Amino acid sequence: MKVLFKGGYVANARPDLSGKMDVLIVDDRIAQLAKDINISDCKVINIEGKTLLPGLIDVHCHLRDPGYEYKENIATGTRSAAMGGFTTIACMANTQPVADNRAVIDYIKKKVKAEGVVKVMPIGSITKNLEGKELSLMGEMKEAGIIAVSDDGKTVMDGHLMLKAMEYASNFDLPVICHCEDASIARDGVVNMGYISTITGLRGISRVAEDAIVARDLMLAGETGAHVHIAHVSTAGSVELIKTAKDKGIRVTCETAPHYFSLTEKAVENFDTFAKVNPPLRTEEDVQAIKQALKDGIIDIIATDHAPHHLDEKLVEFDLAAFGISGLETALALGVTELVESGVMDIHGLVDKMSYTPARIFKLPGGIIQEDTPADIVVVDLKKSYEIDADKFVSLGKNTPFNGKKVKGKVEYTMVSGQLVVSRGVLGGNK
Ligand code: DOR
Repeated sequence: MKVLFKGGYVANARPDLSGKMDVLIVDDRIAQLAKDINISDCKVINIEGKTLLPGLIDVHCHLRDPGYEYKENIATGTRSAAMGGFTTIACMANTQPVADNRAVIDYIKKKVKAEGVVKVMPIGSITKNLEGKELSLMGEMKEAGIIAVSDDGKTVMDGHLMLKAMEYASNFDLPVICHCEDASIARDGVVNMGYISTITGLRGISRVAEDAIVARDLMLAGETGAHVHIAHVSTAGSVELIKTAKDKGIRVTCETAPHYFSLTEKAVENFDTFAKVNPPLRTEEDVQAIKQALKDGIIDIIATDHAPHHLDEKLVEFDLAAFGISGLETALALGVTELVESGVMDIHGLVDKMSYTPARIFKLPGGIIQEDTPADIVVVDLKKSYEIDADKFVSLGKNTPFNGKKVKGKVEYTMVSGQLVVSRGVLGGNK
C-alpha cells in the first residue's frame, strides 16, 4: 500500500531537516522524502498549507484499563490519542489491579492488539499495589515490555524504599518516573496554597510539597546513578532544583503538562472541579518559570498526564472531586497556542518536546520524519483556529478546564505504522 502526502511542510525537531517536501509511505515505512514526488498507483493526500510532523509521543497518560473502564479504556483512550495527534503513548500503572506484575502488562498488551489504534507502552508500578511498602516485580514486567516504572498518582514516601527502587530499576535499565509530592506536607490539600486557597477557603498544598520530594529524588538519583524522570513539574522551585542537578551531571530528565503552562491557580477561583489536578495549578510566577525552562531545555518534554474521570466524579463539591484533566485531545493545540503562537518556541521546538525527545529519553522508535523509519505521522493545520469542545472528545473523560477556549493547531491526519487512523480530522480507517 502506498500513500503520498503532497505539498506539506515537514517539521522535524531540527530545522535543517525540515522543509517543504512530499512524503511517500510504502506499507508501514516512510519510503521517500523529496521536493516533488510523482508516482502513479498510490493514494495522494494533498496537504498544501499544512504541516507534517512525526507522530506525537506521550510518555504519561492514564488509560484506566483494567479496572476503571467507565472512565476510559484501551479502545477509547487510543482513539482519543490519535485524535490528538499521538501515535505512541505510555500508560500509567494506577489501574485496578495495579500494573505491578507481568499478568497485568500482558493483559494491556493483548487488549491494545485487539482494540488499540496507536502504539501503547505500559509503565509498571514501583511498589506493589502502589502501597509504597514493597517493590513490584520489575524484572518480569521489563520482560513483558514496560518502558519505565512509576507509582504516579502517589509518592513513594519511604525514602529508603525509593533508594532501593532506583537501584533495582537500574538493574533492568528502567527509568524511574517520580510523582513528587510530600504527603506529610500536602496532607488533604486540594489547590495550591496561597492567595486562591485563602480566598476560597479550600485547603492548600504548599509548593514545598513538590520541591521537597524533587530534591530528595534528585539526591537519590545522584547516590544510585539511576535515571530519574520527574513527572508533571509545576513549580519554579522544582525547575531550579532540576537545573542544579543537571549541571552536576545527575541523570535526570523531566516533563511538564500543558495545563502547567496554560493556566494558573486562578482557574479554581470559581470552584471549577475540572481544574482540580494533582499537582495543583500554581501561580503566574510558576507558569513563567515553566515556559522559560521549556525554552532553556531544563524541562525536556511535554506529556499530557491525560487523567480522564467520569462526570459523576467531577460534578461534586470541590473537596470530593477527583484530581485530573483529560488531556490527549487538547495538548497539541495548547502547545501551538500557548508556546508557538506566543513566541516561546517555534514548531520545531514543539516537535522536539512532544515527539523527538520523548522518543530519545524512553528509547522508543519514531520522533523523526526520515526515510526508512516507521510511518508514524501527524498532519496539522497550524493556522486553523477553533474552539475546544469537550462534548466532541473521543475520550470518555470530558473533564477539561479548556472547554470553549479558542486555540490553533488542528489535527487533520494521524497515521500509525502506515495506517490512517484519523483522516480529515475524523476517526476512520483501520479498526
Ligand atoms: O491529577 C492527577 N490525576 N494527577 C495524578 O498524578 C494522577 C491522576 C489520576 O490518575 O487521575
